[in-house]
Amino acid sequence: MCGIVGYLGKKDCTKVLLDSLSKLEYRGYDSAGIAVFENDSIKVAKTKGRIAQLEERINHEGGIKGNCGIGHTRWATHGEPSDVNSHPHGDANISIVHNGIIENYSKIKSFLETKGYVFESQTDTETVAKLLDFYYDGDPLNTIKNVLGEIEGSYALGILFKDFPDRIYAVRKDSPLIVGIGDDEAFIASDVPAFLKYTNKYYLLDTNEIVVLSNDGVEIFDKHGAPIEKELMVADWDMEAAEKGGYEHFMLKEINEQPAAINATISPRIKDGMPDLSECGLTQEKLAAYSNIFVVACGTAMHAGLVGKYVIESIGRIPVIVDVASEFRYRNPIVTDKDLVIVVSQSGETADTLEALKLSRKKGADTLAIVNVVGSSIAREADMVIYTHAGPEISVASTKAYSVQIAVFYLLAFELAYAKGAISQEECIRLTKELQSVPATLEIVLKQDELCKYVASTLVNAENLLYIGRGLDYALSMEGSLKLKEISYIHSESYAAGELKHGTISLVTDTMPIIAVATQRDLFDKTVSNAKEVKARGGKVIFVSHSYINVDDDVADYKIGLPTIDDLLMPMVAVVPLQLIAYYTSVLRGNDVDKPRNLAKSVTVE
Ligand code: F6R
Repeated sequence: MCGIVGYLGKKDCTKVLLDSLSKLEYRGYDSAGIAVFENDSIKVAKTKGRIAQLEERINHEGGIKGNCGIGHTRWATHGEPSDVNSHPHGDANISIVHNGIIENYSKIKSFLETKGYVFESQTDTETVAKLLDFYYDGDPLNTIKNVLGEIEGSYALGILFKDFPDRIYAVRKDSPLIVGIGDDEAFIASDVPAFLKYTNKYYLLDTNEIVVLSNDGVEIFDKHGAPIEKELMVADWDMEAAEKGGYEHFMLKEINEQPAAINATISPRIKDGMPDLSECGLTQEKLAAYSNIFVVACGTAMHAGLVGKYVIESIGRIPVIVDVASEFRYRNPIVTDKDLVIVVSQSGETADTLEALKLSRKKGADTLAIVNVVGSSIAREADMVIYTHAGPEISVASTKAYSVQIAVFYLLAFELAYAKGAISQEECIRLTKELQSVPATLEIVLKQDELCKYVASTLVNAENLLYIGRGLDYALSMEGSLKLKEISYIHSESYAAGELKHGTISLVTDTMPIIAVATQRDLFDKTVSNAKEVKARGGKVIFVSHSYINVDDDVADYKIGLPTIDDLLMPMVAVVPLQLIAYYTSVLRGNDVDKPRNLAKSVTVE
């Protein structure tokens, strides 16, 4: 949802900004721009399109030379992608970049129009630029404080004032913004990968804290203007983590990183063969005492919660309610102080998930965040945090983040089931060991790359597609379906296999491929019957199941065979071919896999 950067140092600022923006393009990529101090004036270049187009434009216009500036890559909210709607906004005196939404911008705009201001763009951001101008009194800090008193909504802002060359001012509320600290240089950015090439040290900013980057150093002020000290954080992500490393796309790289990511996430949480989540304050006594568990998240993270539900309910015997955050937060959910609310988020910044979390806390529930980004808003807001260790996920379509999220749900379910006396210690150790075997099993599954590519080639011309499964396979197939549709643009839906004949089977023809996931052996025969029903109506069936199980021609056209581990854990294995099929279908259709149309990672608006 828009990426913002800022650089102050001795390097060529334009080069650094373009480089940093390219690392944030996953957050939005419909237009881009920079503003740099050149000989004490603010020089701006911006354009509709990608960073590469911005670079072309800058070079075409003779370049911009300077050591201090701000940049932006956009995901449009107010106003179509166009040159005029691109950031930075402002004039020769003040220039800003913004991530977020100013909810009361119309009111501010009307007020400013009465004061003679004329607006060029359709953006909410331009009102902030003009409001800064309206309040400007020669003191940037005071001016920003006045503006913060007027604007409502979410924002991360980077600001240049012409009267204060070689200074960057920045502030945030409900949109991410961090301050990178290098040797003789400093950065502002929406996310760590933007400056990881230059430094891994950074400060987190809290709501309405204002940071000033100048040649004298970095100063941070609280919302009343008093200087404050912050703890310096160190990111344990290395630079390679944010590079493609020889893969054609980040998505393929991230699919292949899953064994290592799962290992890094579960290993520190297994003690003497037993899961141990006490690091976050989640003791066995606490776990055993909850009446209900809610899992609230969006998209892929919500799908991880669905797997969590099946696993926790099946062995832990506690009701688990899974909800999409945008619904949960507005339906006055029946959550009490006897419940645990688990929010799941890769970015830790998803606006709806964050608000659902705040609501749950208000209702007195214990809250646990399963989050990938350290120090993110959701991590900071929750009572307890379990960090997944997936490393940076750059591809817009989430893959490794999903796998590590479900890995955490397994640990949680095993510990909970043991704490409640629902499984013995021996069983808990057995299941935990089985989970530890997943990374090695995935290395085998990843070798089926060519088969998945072949299967994808049979889907390339499809316009519609169905995924079916039962139990855990149904939960997993929802993720398979989302993955395919978001990057291949083929319409796809996921159905509980038994539900198909209650209406949807009327859609089945020989142009409608069906991916049937059948890894749950107690439900296997039933899913086979459903696949046969599809085949009998001309549908093409791709069957995903254990490799040792043979299926006849009246069941499937193609079969993807998987190594066998405990059925409960099979989603961790079966997700890989679903991800690869989605990936190759997108590649074969010539799509921009890592940056699918209309999407952006880290959805910080409602
Ligand atoms: C799909 C995808 C999205 C995210 C969703 C939540 O591939 O990535 O559905 O899962 O936007 O994002 P986070 O996990 O950052 O809260």
